[in-house]
Amino acid sequence: MEGYPPGPRLPRTLQGLRMLATEHRMLERYRRRWGDVFTLNLWPFERLVVVSDPAEVKRIFQGDPHELHAGEGNRVLEPLVGSESVLLLDDDEHLRRRKLLLPAFHGERMRVYGELMREIADAEIDAWPLRSEFPVHASMQRITLRVIVRAVFGVEDDARALELEELLVQVTELGQRVLMVPPLQRDFGGHGPWYRVGQVGERVDALLYDEIARRRSAPDADATDILSMLVAGSDLTDEQLRDELMTLLVAGHETTATGMSWVVERVLRHPPVHARLCAELADGEDGYLDCVIKEALRVRPVITYVMRTLKSPMDVAGYTIPTGATLGTSILLIHRRADLYPEPYAFRPERFEESPPDTYGWLPFGGGVRRCLGAAFAGFEMKQVLTQVFGRLDLRVADPRPERQARRAITFVPARGARVVVDARVPAVAPAVPIPA
Ligand code: HEM
Repeated sequence: MEGYPPGPRLPRTLQGLRMLATEHRMLERYRRRWGDVFTLNLWPFERLVVVSDPAEVKRIFQGDPHELHAGEGNRVLEPLVGSESVLLLDDDEHLRRRKLLLPAFHGERMRVYGELMREIADAEIDAWPLRSEFPVHASMQRITLRVIVRAVFGVEDDARALELEELLVQVTELGQRVLMVPPLQRDFGGHGPWYRVGQVGERVDALLYDEIARRRSAPDADATDILSMLVAGSDLTDEQLRDELMTLLVAGHETTATGMSWVVERVLRHPPVHARLCAELADGEDGYLDCVIKEALRVRPVITYVMRTLKSPMDVAGYTIPTGATLGTSILLIHRRADLYPEPYAFRPERFEESPPDTYGWLPFGGGVRRCLGAAFAGFEMKQVLTQVFGRLDLRVADPRPERQARRAITFVPARGARVVVDARVPAVAPAVPIPA
């Protein structure tokens, strides 16, 4: 049948407002009413067809990337990542760029960053206050930012690294405030967040171009950072390299910090999970931690949608959906399917011991030719940092009530910042657990 699957008939603005206020509840209500595939009519999309049937998701992820664009939907990120970012490219150019970037993110390669990640986590954990409550999310952000500056950008000099970290915090925070609000993207006579994004952005660019120039003028065959690998192993221009560095920051910093914060938030509210995790880590076992991370990313996905814009009509759930429509694979709704996950709202890491995640039923990193390039990096970093957090600390929640999922630009974060109390801390020691693969 030609056209769109049915969905709510509310006016566009009302649907948009509802979505902003109560997105998760609204989506579940619509799925109960309209089924696994329904159409929303809300800004900024022409039409958004929400898909939560794994068989349809498989067809979308396996579909021809020339007919299913992702770059257009990511254009909102352009002020931060630049027009040459892999996130914004489509078609052959996107595939070419991915091929250049992929080797630097190969799972096995990540092992070289294990020690650095643990050291950064230990230093941060050592600064956590004892017996007074604080939000762990802010701390996780500092850890993931430092890991990106050191492991991805390869900045070794402490003063330069610190300067860059400070500027990157400013540019991403300012950026998050204005990216989703186009009317704010104006220079109000040398004032306002947009103007400041430009000012700070120029200083960030100067530092990044300087790092790129250093790699070009004095190549180091033993360097393990991702920038060095890209300079040595690709023909990317300085501008393309700058855009990809900002892409890796924007895509990898807040997401990984949020994923780890949700693990802490969920684990501490499930004492048997917490007890088993700590006991296994003390025995040098990290298999359960793997399941804990997978389950946290399932019940609290950091990103709840991945978008594809149709360049030609496509059949979905019995409807021929026209060119120009956007298909939104709903990670949230798929992760809450009772047929895939019995008791879908329960936090039960054991479910992943019984069976590994389904390719089209567990989607925190999206899928197909656009699947997250940093998935192995993120998974590895989460394991390193959380091993230190749960292995070294006697932790409890500040308030037993679960934290709400609050929107922050394109991510969903713990509303109170994942507040915890540290009752005791053991000093950092050489890794007791072998560095996980
Ligand atoms: C828990 C942490 C993370 C989550 C939940 C996450 C999630 C995602 C998702 C959902 C997408 C879109 C996939 C799609 O459209 O099918 C994506 C894309 C991407 N991610 Fe991640 N990500 C994480 C960490 C990282 C890290 C650490 C990096 C790099 C250092 C990274 C780099 C990227 C890049 C470059 C893309 C664009 C891929 C493309 O367009 O081809 N991500 N990520």
